[in-house]
Amino acid sequence: MTNQPQLPANPVFAALDTTDLDQARGWAEALRGHVGGVKTGLEFFSANGADGVRAIVDLGLPVFLDLKFHDIPNTVAGAVRAVADLGTAIVNVHAAGGPAMLAAAREAAEQSRGAQRPLVIAVTVLTSLDDSDLKAVGQSVPAREQVVRLAQLVQSEGLDGVVCSPAEISAIRDACGPDFKLIVPGIRPDWAATGDQKRITTPAQARDDGADVLVIGRPITGADDPAAAAARIAGELGLAG
Ligand code: C5P
Repeated sequence: MTNQPQLPANPVFAALDTTDLDQARGWAEALRGHVGGVKTGLEFFSANGADGVRAIVDLGLPVFLDLKFHDIPNTVAGAVRAVADLGTAIVNVHAAGGPAMLAAAREAAEQSRGAQRPLVIAVTVLTSLDDSDLKAVGQSVPAREQVVRLAQLVQSEGLDGVVCSPAEISAIRDACGPDFKLIVPGIRPDWAATGDQKRITTPAQARDDGADVLVIGRPITGADDPAAAAARIAGELGLAG
């Protein structure tokens, strides 16, 4: 994909999972300087819309807008153009939308009016789905295999990378090479509670395995002092934070 934007030196994007704009803004302000960026998703967008996203973008941190678009190519292209014009740094779509939809998303981002287009990445198989869930929707290929197949499709349509679990990093790296961006949630420092995440890894391990972006939510936002938690993670990654 042309004109690929640079990722920040600090790979941590803090997940601001809230519907409350003031809360999200407070977190983003506190975390500035300790994380590479922030992630907002469906929960935040459904409550606060594009104005809410603009309010976070205006704070100056790179924003990953995690809306996982999945629709016909023309509609996804329009949606990608709209969120790219908000000044987002990373946007995403579902790989299962197919080749034409992926290509339309890429082309839309390339036409972005902003100074820099966002990275466009794709979700392969939701980690909430296991092989029996996939069978229930008529998909007989095991999840592991499907993840790699979809990552290769995403790459062949010229997108920048995929979201994947820590357990999938090495298989996708092997299949897609060093330049394909891997955005990885399911990260837990060894001092943080696991919560509902099942297959987890530490920030340093995920980075060493080949993750480009580490999406970390509750270990930061659920801490008594989110800025201190983010600084501690940056320290564990060998970064000043
Ligand atoms: O709080 P926690 O660190 O578990 O938050 C992780 C973030 O990454 C959440 O916003 C969650 O929705 C997202 N995510 C995930 N697992 C995936 C895909 C996204 O945890 N497979």
